[in-house]
Amino acid sequence: MKSGEYYPLKTKSSTPAIVNSWNEWDPLRHVIVGVANQGCIPVSEPAIEYHFPEEGGIQGKSGQWPEELIARANSELDNLANVMRKRGIRVDRPTAINFSEPVTTPDFTHPSQIGCMPARDVLLTVGNEILEATMSYRARWFEYLAYRPLVQSYFDADPNMRFSAAPKPRLGLDSYKAGYFDDMNIADFGQIVSKADNMDYVTSEFEPLFDAADATRCGKDIFVQHGFTTNLKGIDWLRRHFSNHRIHRVNFRNDPDPVHIDCSLVPLRPGLVMGNPNRPIVMEPGKEDLFQRNGWEMVMAAKPAHAKPQPLCYYSIWLSMNFLTLDPKTVIVEETEVYQNEQLDKLGFEVIPIPFRNAYPFGGSIHCATADV
Ligand code: ARG
Repeated sequence: MKSGEYYPLKTKSSTPAIVNSWNEWDPLRHVIVGVANQGCIPVSEPAIEYHFPEEGGIQGKSGQWPEELIARANSELDNLANVMRKRGIRVDRPTAINFSEPVTTPDFTHPSQIGCMPARDVLLTVGNEILEATMSYRARWFEYLAYRPLVQSYFDADPNMRFSAAPKPRLGLDSYKAGYFDDMNIADFGQIVSKADNMDYVTSEFEPLFDAADATRCGKDIFVQHGFTTNLKGIDWLRRHFSNHRIHRVNFRNDPDPVHIDCSLVPLRPGLVMGNPNRPIVMEPGKEDLFQRNGWEMVMAAKPAHAKPQPLCYYSIWLSMNFLTLDPKTVIVEETEVYQNEQLDKLGFEVIPIPFRNAYPFGGSIHCATADV
């Protein structure tokens, strides 16, 4: 690989790169927005079995998504980037790698990767630090490489930036519970929920595992979802790593896909957090009333506008609440999510609606597609 292909540092912007982000609501000045380039259809692996609906026409297929779908997703991602640029926010984009290549390590081999649309999943910014998550799917082992040109450039530009990576996981057979999905009808969410409600998730406790999108930040307090992509050792690792923070483990009941916190618990502004009405939150023992006792209100998200997920999207209809807060008064929301828009409007936010559903199959909605710098 020619070095230029991995490090095309052509960021032109007057905003200097200063890594500094503590929560989900302070005015956003600099952000990464993913791209759909070279994105691939995900292939099942020990941690996850994909079941695409028949009408999508991709069942049993693998390799790169059709160019036409990539182009449609990119036009919505580019629009998101432009909407923010027009408001004076610096927007950087990752550099896709060849995601069609297999992932091979001494412990496993997996036929292809996923892409670099959901920047949120990989990079966790806490204060002046950008931390690359371990990730917990084999397909996502090398995803950090797509962000390296950017993260390296921030490290070069900002003398106070801390650039770190969590221990690379093995992701061999020991990292997952053998036969977790066996004898289960994957389409029957009830079967998964009955295990997940007992905190019995697909990942084992062999090694620390977490995805960055399982964490949501409220200053000193960071909430981390324990589920399929983050195990208890991963939370323990985060607790020791961010030793000046308070790391709170949270679980959600009734969630057939306990993956990434940003469709279940979304901090809106100081004193206000949004929950998912279908997924009751379970706090750690002794912290059951943490929000209330600190004077925080929890509102439940409005119902999603769609009865079924976007055909090729493996996430739920609750991407409706996966909006991006630009500052404590402004949010960017998917335009067809009319109930969510209306609710945020009533809560006093200026709502910026944008189309985004064509980007969903590449890794989620607006919050997933971004990472704060
Ligand atoms: N598990 C969530 C749901 O389907 C999807 C979360 C996506 N978030 C992300 N950062 N990729 O409700």
